[in-house]
Amino acid sequence: MNNPFVFGEIVDDENFVNRTTELRQLVRDLADGQKVFLLSPRRFGKSSLVSMALLKLKKRHLRTVSLTVSSYSSYAQFLEKFAEKVLRAAGPWERVKDWVTRFGRQVKPDINYNMTSGEVTLSLSKGASFDPEPIAPEVFALPGELTRNAEFRMAICLDEFQQISQFNGRSVENVIRNQVQQQRQVGYVFAGSQPSLMQEMLSAAGPFHKAGPQVFLDKIDAADWEEFITAQFRKRGRTIAQPALERLFKGADLIPYDVQRIAHELWDYAELQDKQKLDISDVEAVINALVSGQSTYYELLWEQLAPRQRAALQALAVRGSGEIYSQALREEFRLGPASTVQKAFQSLDAKDILDRYRGDYFFLDPLFPVWIQRRVS
Ligand SMILES: Nc1ncnc2c1ncn2[C@@H]1O[C@H](COP(=O)(O)OP(=O)(O)OP(=O)(O)O)[C@@H](O)[C@H]1O
Ligand SMILES: [Mg+2]
Repeated sequence: MNNPFVFGEIVDDENFVNRTTELRQLVRDLADGQKVFLLSPRRFGKSSLVSMALLKLKKRHLRTVSLTVSSYSSYAQFLEKFAEKVLRAAGPWERVKDWVTRFGRQVKPDINYNMTSGEVTLSLSKGASFDPEPIAPEVFALPGELTRNAEFRMAICLDEFQQISQFNGRSVENVIRNQVQQQRQVGYVFAGSQPSLMQEMLSAAGPFHKAGPQVFLDKIDAADWEEFITAQFRKRGRTIAQPALERLFKGADLIPYDVQRIAHELWDYAELQDKQKLDISDVEAVINALVSGQSTYYELLWEQLAPRQRAALQALAVRGSGEIYSQALREEFRLGPASTVQKAFQSLDAKDILDRYRGDYFFLDPLFPVWIQRRVS
């Protein structure tokens, strides 16, 4: 039997835990042509949720498109892929070819249609000096044009959307906003992993103010994980004790990626040792092995940090976020004034070491504080 716990990949239908409410809502909003902003810290499950939603919409005959903004190295390349994927989704060729000729006259792209595979490929320009800005509105108008008189709707996901400002800064955001607003038949989900950046776009001064519903993705409840994990181990004739599960959830800080990662290691460990009953000490052994495996990386990371940042991380690792600004704690860890601590946290947030969840700072990698604790104790 294969290891049923996957991490670092988009989870499929079978291994998708809970999120029933979020999924239902997202499917409905996209089918209605809403522009949804999906926010959460890294590795909470945005991409997996969106991929499930698009799958469901596809079954309802919506045309779906998904792009990860961070995959492209230039604005021109992003526009190219956007146009290409939208054309493919709206195909077959017979349906989109009129539009392609019209679009082609102004934009003059290189459009190729492969008769055998039915695939459309599109290239805007090969030169590095090519300025895609003037044609951007037309490219982003494409889904609207293609659905206007068609009998189908579309749902489009732009994942890692916080990266969009890399391409020509604010002007891209404004173009997208202006275009998508006019597309009643097209649902969009803009998913982003840096909630602070996304919130800036959505703020009163930002380009996406009131553009659509904001969904902040939560962690998945321990009870749902418990059911899933227990069921997997049971299939293999193994049991996992309640305190062991609790230790796993604590070690993973209930971050979906890390729950799966520790569960994955625990599975391999149980196979190797051929253990039928898994206990808290087994989970601890697995967590320790994971931390040790990462120690070179943690070491390097630590060396790059300023003393103030290290002190703030130590305090957070040892004491948690509850009393982080209290005077007693600041004295104990020699943190300096509260404003210095605040600054340290902000810089660690910018470095993607910390993020905020429900107002409190937490470690994006829940094993890093375990390593930090080990060193101070
Ligand atoms: N609903 C779920 N059921 C089971 N596992 C999940 C679920 N959602 C997320 N995971 C776990 O978390 C991992 C990360 O999920 P995903 O890539 O969807 O997150 P993300 O928020 O898009 O992350 P990033 O911000 O890094 O792009 C998955 O590989 C999987 O291990
Ligand atoms: Mg993702």
